[in-house]
Amino acid sequence: MPFGQTSTGVTHCFALRLEDPGWSHWRPGQFVMVRHPSFGLELIWGRAFSISRLVSSGLSLFIQAQGRGSERLSAANPGDKVTVWGPLGNGFAIQDKRTLMLAGGVGIAPFLAYAENHPTPHKLELIFGHRLPLETYPFDNAKTLVPEMTVSSFHERSPEDLPVFLEMVDEAIMNHATSGLVLACGPTPFLRAVKQMAAKHGAMAQLSLENKMGCGVGACLGCVIKDTKGENVQVCSKGPVFWSHKIEL
Ligand SMILES: Cc1cc2nc3c(=O)[nH]c(=O)nc-3n(C[C@H](O)[C@H](O)[C@H](O)COP(=O)(O)OP(=O)(O)OC[C@H]3O[C@@H](n4cnc5c(N)ncnc54)[C@H](O)[C@@H]3O)c2cc1C
Ligand code: FES
Repeated sequence: MPFGQTSTGVTHCFALRLEDPGWSHWRPGQFVMVRHPSFGLELIWGRAFSISRLVSSGLSLFIQAQGRGSERLSAANPGDKVTVWGPLGNGFAIQDKRTLMLAGGVGIAPFLAYAENHPTPHKLELIFGHRLPLETYPFDNAKTLVPEMTVSSFHERSPEDLPVFLEMVDEAIMNHATSGLVLACGPTPFLRAVKQMAAKHGAMAQLSLENKMGCGVGACLGCVIKDTKGENVQVCSKGPVFWSHKIEL
């Protein structure tokens, strides 16, 4: 499948565009597994990425290069052919109620598709926490694509900034506790904090996990976590989106 690539020009984040896969059914929050020929025999598995947007011109992913596979994807050339499996997993709930989207770093990726496909986007609020400069991420795209939603961002320049951001998140979750929905995607410590805050305020929350994956389809058991009943569940096929009160984190 041919694709083009654009760099944000800052550090190692880039958008990866793939030819329109022609799917008739998919939901924001689902993901794809991608494999580039340069993975060769050395990197057996594909790599998991959220579907950031799907439009008639193609499928867009937003990737932070942080290891061998994503580095190789960042060096791909327009027109290269990659192998893609998808759409995989389940997506975020879409409900006609006030919905708070909490994104950390590349966790912003699925919220572009989510906001674009929401029937009542004026009820959406996005809070985005990031460590790299804001222009590294598709935050302005989100604002432009869905001008009806409320957006704010927080630049975590040093570890001392984290409590300030978490305080902001805590207050927003509290404000959505009574009749709203909270969604979060980002690094595991961030999701853990959201889970605790949602429990504290009695908010309904869904978390999208970014566990390391092997097969992506429920077979290798490389991605399992425990649910609150103590059962092993595969993040790739039972998630990656889970109700926060149903999983251990
Ligand atoms: C649902 C989902 C959505 C994601 N969305 C995004 C996104 O939109 N943008 C983004 O930048 N990142 C996203 N990620 C994270 C992304 O998958 C990782 O950054 C990427 O896999 C890193 O690959 P790497 O080769 O660069 O890193 P490396 O650390 O070199 O390799 C990671 C790979 O090692 C293998 N591996 C490691 N541990 C195990 C294990 N226990 N079992 C099986 N295999 C293992 C897997 O193949 C894994 O993908 C997402 C992850 C998930 C699960
Ligand atoms: S990645 Fe293989 S079971 Fe989930």
